[in-house]
Amino acid sequence: MGAIVVFGAGGRAGRAVTAEARARGYAVTAVVRDPARYPDLRAECVTVVRGDVTDAGSVTATAAGHVGAVHAVSPFSGPEQGFDTLDPRFFVKAADALLDGLAAAGVGRLVAVGLGANLLGADGRPVMDDPLAFPREIRPFALAHTAGLNRLRERGGGPVDWAMLTPAGHLDHGGARTGRYRVGGEQLPAGSREPWLSYADLAVATVDEIEKPVRHRTRVSVFNFLER
Ligand SMILES: NC(=O)c1ccc[n+]([C@@H]2O[C@H](COP(=O)([O-])OP(=O)(O)OC[C@H]3O[C@@H](n4cnc5c(N)ncnc54)[C@H](OP(=O)(O)O)[C@@H]3O)[C@@H](O)[C@H]2O)c1
Repeated sequence: MGAIVVFGAGGRAGRAVTAEARARGYAVTAVVRDPARYPDLRAECVTVVRGDVTDAGSVTATAAGHVGAVHAVSPFSGPEQGFDTLDPRFFVKAADALLDGLAAAGVGRLVAVGLGANLLGADGRPVMDDPLAFPREIRPFALAHTAGLNRLRERGGGPVDWAMLTPAGHLDHGGARTGRYRVGGEQLPAGSREPWLSYADLAVATVDEIEKPVRHRTRVSVFNFLER
């Protein structure tokens, strides 16, 4: 089956992707900044290594020999953290380091997790531009994320075939794995039903795109509808 390298493997999405990949028989290289903080990540077929997604040399060193890479890194885990330490260029640096580092390592596939804030609402505006739909205080993070997506698009013609999967709506930690998901485009899903996705189903979509790439050098939205 080969091996998948997961950047941000200690986070919510990274853990879900690691679990999904293992369940399908892949070996996983779990990249975290400080392995000593993640003793619980160690498992059969999981190798925990130190790395930094914003450093191309680190990406090359950790990714060589893998069939694909997953970018599930976030420098921001919730509003309580604040923005004092947020580098507005974080996701641009990560995009550059991943495209350069993976190319140098000979890894041709990258699947990145996006942010629903830059999908378009019913009025055609990005969700993050609507203060009723998106908290103003999180806007700096949304802008940083969007800059990273734009960087991938600007550099889209290189050797690394990337896809960004953007959860449309709430991303539910602990939500069940259904094994199903819908794929949309730039718009938030229209209609009265609420888009929602469990981290487990985001992981299903992510590993699907590593295993059998369908989306190439583009971003799509990924969602289910909340069952009430
Ligand atoms: N509805 C939505 O659209 C939605 C909702 C939630 C999340 N997301 C997106 O989903 C992605 C994953 O989010 P998440 O919820 O899984 O985040 P998370 O739980 O906060 O995990 C993020 C991980 O990134 C790691 N990290 C931070 N800086 C790093 C660096 N320079 N190099 C390597 N790893 C680094 C952190 O680990 P260390 O600090 O230990 O290094 C952390 O474990 C993000 O892009 C996030 O914005 C989207």
